[in-house]
Parts: sequence; C-alpha cells; structure tokens
Amino acid sequence: MDRVHLELAEKSYDIFIGSGIIFKSELFTKHIEGKSVFVISNKSVATHYLDALLSSLEGFNCGVYLMPEGEQFKNLETVEDIIGSLLESGANRSTSILALGGGVVGDTAGFVASVFQRGVPFLQVPTTLLSQVDSSVGGKTAVNHSSGKNMIGAFYQPKTVVIDIETLATLPAREIKAGLSEIIKHGVLANRDYFETIERDLEKLVALDKEKLQSAIAGSCSIKAEIVSRDELESGQRVLLNFGHTFGHAIETATGYDQWLHGEAVGAGMIMAADLSMRMGKCNAEEAMRIKHIVMKAGLPFEPPEFMDEKMFLELMRRDKKSGDNGVRLVLLNGGIGKTSLVENVPQDLLRQTLEARGNLCKGS
Ligand code: NAD
Ligand code: GLY
Repeated sequence: MDRVHLELAEKSYDIFIGSGIIFKSELFTKHIEGKSVFVISNKSVATHYLDALLSSLEGFNCGVYLMPEGEQFKNLETVEDIIGSLLESGANRSTSILALGGGVVGDTAGFVASVFQRGVPFLQVPTTLLSQVDSSVGGKTAVNHSSGKNMIGAFYQPKTVVIDIETLATLPAREIKAGLSEIIKHGVLANRDYFETIERDLEKLVALDKEKLQSAIAGSCSIKAEIVSRDELESGQRVLLNFGHTFGHAIETATGYDQWLHGEAVGAGMIMAADLSMRMGKCNAEEAMRIKHIVMKAGLPFEPPEFMDEKMFLELMRRDKKSGDNGVRLVLLNGGIGKTSLVENVPQDLLRQTLEARGNLCKGS
C-alpha cells in the first residue's frame, strides 16, 4: 500500500492507495470520531462495493443514500434530498459523511458535508480513475446550477482518501481512458519524469496492470497534493492543474456535458494548449508532438467536435470561470513538458490559429 500525505496544517490528511484496501477497517475507523457514518453512493457502485465498505464500518451506525445516476443529478435538489435523509436518520454534528463513487458522488457528498450543520467530517472512497487521481484529492466540492457547472461549491478537505484500485475492474474502458487523461495532465504540468514513466507504461495502464496503476495513481496524487498544499484556495499555483481545461470546458459546454467525458475534453484540450504553446515559442515541436502522441495512444479524442468553429470556441472560452477580466487566460507550457505557467491576455491571432488548426499541430516555432 502507498500513502501520500497532503500537508495543510490542521487540515492535513493521508491518501491511501492499494489493492483490496476497502476491507482494511482501520483506514476508516481511525478517521471517524463519532458513532455514526452516512454513506453516499449510487446504485451501480453500491452493487459492487457497498457490502465491502459496510463490513469495514462494522460497529458504527451506518446510513446509506443512493443518488440517482448521472451528472444531471449533481445539483441542489439532490443536496436537499440527502440532507432530508440525514435528518431522518438522526444524523448530528458528529456524523461522518463518506462518499463511495466517482466524481459526481464525491463532489455532491463533499458539498453536503461542508454545509450539513455547518460542516461534518468527510471521507472519500473514489471508484473511478478520474476521481482517484483528481477529484477526491484537494477539497474542491461542488454541485451544478442550471446556468453553469460547479457554480455552487466550497473548499472542504476530507479526513482521508482510501483508493482501492480493485474497484477499477468494473469501470468501463472509456472511463479508464478519461482518468488517464488527468494522469497525463499531471505529468505535463509538473513532472517530466512522471510523464515519461506514464508514456512508457501506457499500454500496461490501459490493460489495468495493478502494479503500474498503483504507482501511477500514487504519483498523480503526490503531484496534486504538493500543489494543493502550497495553494489550497487556487490563488496561485493550483491554477496549473487546469492545463487543457479552458479548451476542454468549451468542448464540454458546447456538447451539453453528455457526449464527451471530462477527461476526453481535457485530452483534446491539452493538444490545443500544446499547439498554442508552440506558436508562442514556449515549447518545441517535438514536445508538443509527444503530448499529442500520448493522448492518441491512450485512445482519447484528439480533435474537437466538427461543429465547433473558432467563433464558438472563443465565446465559450471567454465565459470560462478561469478567464479574467482582460480576456482569455490559459495555462500553457513554459519551456517544455513538466513546466507550465499561467498566461494572461493570450495573443488573439495565435489563439485563432490554434482554434483553426483543430488539433493539427503547427510545424514548430
Ligand atoms: P462519474 O462520477 O460520473 O462516474 C462515471 C460513471 O462510472 C458513473 O456512471 C458511475 O456510476 C460509474 N462508476 C463509478 N465507479 C465505478 C466502478 N468502480 N465500477 C463501475 N462503474 C463505476 O465520473 P467521474 O469522471 O468520476 O467524475 C466526473 C465528475 O467529477 C464531474 O462532475 C466533474 O465536475 C467532477 N470533477 C471534480 C473535480 C474536483 O476537483 N472536485 C475534478 C475533476 C472532476
Ligand atoms: N481539478 C483541479 C483542482 O482540483 O484544482
């Protein structure tokens, strides 16, 4: 088992990564102060893993709430319904909330934990690759508003994160690839050695090789934990975690959040960000090509949907919540793989060229 520590003074916590560790009750019990635990999950995850989790929580009063399946239920109506169930079950300020599921369950449960009785302890058992390397770590919780994704949320750190890689055995292959996209992103934005390891191990990762998966997940969690520990509230360096996201969010918004998975949009977005970096002289053609190749090799889409023209992209990118008052802000490469920085006021002519190129890399600076 690997352990990654996220240092945040009194909010510090450990992330455990291993095989079959959902059965290690001590990983949970030492982080639960009261007598009751309320598990939030959904039916497709609960079918496979709820019994295992409940066996580790023996001795606690356990309540369970199963959310309806899908991003469209990550909203305030579900939050209110969960809070109704918590109250009905007699939950109080010492009840711990535990999320068992992917990012939709984790983001919703985390938000509930942050507001129920002004905040109760929260634990995460992420079961998708994306949630294991990204959404369960770092304390961003949110639900969607009808006018925008993740518009209602809070920074609220869990007490611990328990990542059992065995849960990936039941995850559809498309979801595995979407998680790989965030793993690739972590290498590109912060750690060249990690990127090269992922590049080398990619086929084994797609084939769910347990040893490689455990070490890739631990590596990604370490990169994210280090960044979050320096900038929990995203006033500086944490923004780098959004490499590829502004292009990606435009794709997700244009396609209504129900055709492209988040990780898929980030994959195509990373290629566009690499292309723009090259046009701006911030990386060479070989580096950009490596990013495109790894995205393609992971089986992720590498060009935006055909109907998205330059005008649509620009309009959506300007609306992105990462954009500032003075135009589009983007995280771009700054020297090559493993080095990135936030660029304010991206030159419009070069951005237009990247949007026109649609994932076809320019020949180099
Ligand atoms: P998801 O939660 O929608 O899960 C994908 C699908 O897999 C769902 O149908 C789910 O029921 C199913 N599933 C989950 N685990 C399974 C398993 N082990 N076996 C079989 N099926 C399983 O998708 P996701 O990619 O995990 O999360 C996406 C969400 O995460 C989005 O709402 C996004 O906004 C959010 N997110 C949050 C952060 C953050 O920092 N908080 C970061 C990235 C993404
Ligand atoms: N997923 C980006 C972040 O947690 O900051």
